Amino acid sequence: MSLAPIPLSVPSRQLDHISEEINRAAAEVIASGWWLKGNETSRFEEEWARYCGTDHCLGVANGTDGLELALRAVGAAKNEVITVANAGGYTTTASRLVGAHPYYVDIDPAHLVLDVSAALAAVGEQTRAIVATHLFGNVVDVAQLRSGLAALDRPDVIIVEDGSQAHGAGLGQTKVGALGDVAVFSFYPTKNLGALGDAGAIVCQDGSLFDELQALHQYGWTQRYRSEVAHGRNSRIDEIQAAILRVKLPRLDEWNAERRRIGSVYTKAIAGSKLRLINDPDPGAVVHLTVVRSKARDQLVDHLAGLGIGTAVHFPVLDPDQPSQASLPSETDTLVESRAALGEILTVPCFPGMSDEEIDRVAHALNTFEPKLVS
Ligand SMILES: Cc1ncc(COP(=O)(O)O)c(C=O)c1O
Repeated sequence: MSLAPIPLSVPSRQLDHISEEINRAAAEVIASGWWLKGNETSRFEEEWARYCGTDHCLGVANGTDGLELALRAVGAAKNEVITVANAGGYTTTASRLVGAHPYYVDIDPAHLVLDVSAALAAVGEQTRAIVATHLFGNVVDVAQLRSGLAALDRPDVIIVEDGSQAHGAGLGQTKVGALGDVAVFSFYPTKNLGALGDAGAIVCQDGSLFDELQALHQYGWTQRYRSEVAHGRNSRIDEIQAAILRVKLPRLDEWNAERRRIGSVYTKAIAGSKLRLINDPDPGAVVHLTVVRSKARDQLVDHLAGLGIGTAVHFPVLDPDQPSQASLPSETDTLVESRAALGEILTVPCFPGMSDEEIDRVAHALNTFEPKLVS
C-alpha cells in the first residue's frame, strides 16, 4: 500500500478549526458594502502595530509593494541598498522599481541570513539603506547592525527589516518589525501569518515616515484627490483580507510554537548524521521553513520523493545570477557562503496542522537517509 503524499505546505489545514469564523468575517465584509479602506483595515493595522510593538502600520497589497514603498519613502532612489542575494529576489525587484542599486553581501553560513560584519564593511557614500531579511524565521542581529552603523558614524543609513518569513520572531523582548527603522511583511498564504490571497503591511515608529508611506500607497494623496507626493501609486490591502488576518492573528503564537516543535523533532532525528538544520534554536527565532543542509542534497531529494515527501529549494538562484539582472553590474565574488549553500539546501514539510504521523514520517525519512557519495 503506497503512503499518502506529504506536500511541502498545506495552508488550508490552518483553517480546520476556524473556517466558520473566516467565512463569517468574509461574509460580513461583503454584506457591509465597504470593501476597501474600512474598519477591518484600520483595526488590523492597529492590531498588527500593537503585536509588533510599533506606533504605525499601513496595510498594502503584498510584501513586494511594501518593500518598494518603504525603499522609496526612505530615499533609496538613485542610491545603494545593501542586501543579501539568497532571499528570493523580492528586495532586488523593489530596489529596481525605485531606481536603487542593490549591493549584495554574503550570509552567515550557520543560519543563512545577512552577515552583519559584511554589511557594515560594505557601507559606502552611496549607501542609503540596508535590508535585513529575516529568512526562514531566523533573525538578523539588527541591534549589532545598528551599533555598527553608529560606530561608523552612519546613523543616516536606514535599516529596513523584511519580516515576511519571521512574523512573531524577535531579539530579546523586541519583535521583528520594531528592530529597524521600518519593516515590511508579506501575508502570502503560506507565511506564518497568511491571508487567503495577497496582502502585506509596513510598520514603523516615525510619524513623518508614516505620512510619506500613507501618501505613496495611494497616488501621492495627502488628502482625497490632492496628490502632493511624487511617485505615488495604488497598493492597498482588501477589507476581506484584513478581516481574515484579524481572525488568524490571535493564533499566530500558537502556530509558531507548532512550527518550532516540528523543527525540534527534525533536529533530534538528524542528530549524529551529516544533515544539519539551518533553523536557529534561539527562542527569538520562529520557524517559517525547515531547511536541511546536505552535501548530497540531490540524493536527499530523491530519497524523500521516493517516500512521498514534498521538498523545494528556497531559493535556487542568487539574485544577481537571474537573467533579469544581467544588465545590472554586480560584484559577486564575495558571495562565497551564499553560493555554497545553493547546492546544499532543501526545504522539507513544516506547517501548522501537520499530523504527528506526517511529522514522524518526515523525521524518519531524514533519519534513515544514507548518502551514497559525499565529497
Ligand atoms: C522574504 C520575503 N520577502 C518578500 C516577499 C514578497 O512578498 P509578496 O509575495 O507578498 O509580494 C516574500 C514572499 O513571498 C518573502 O519570502
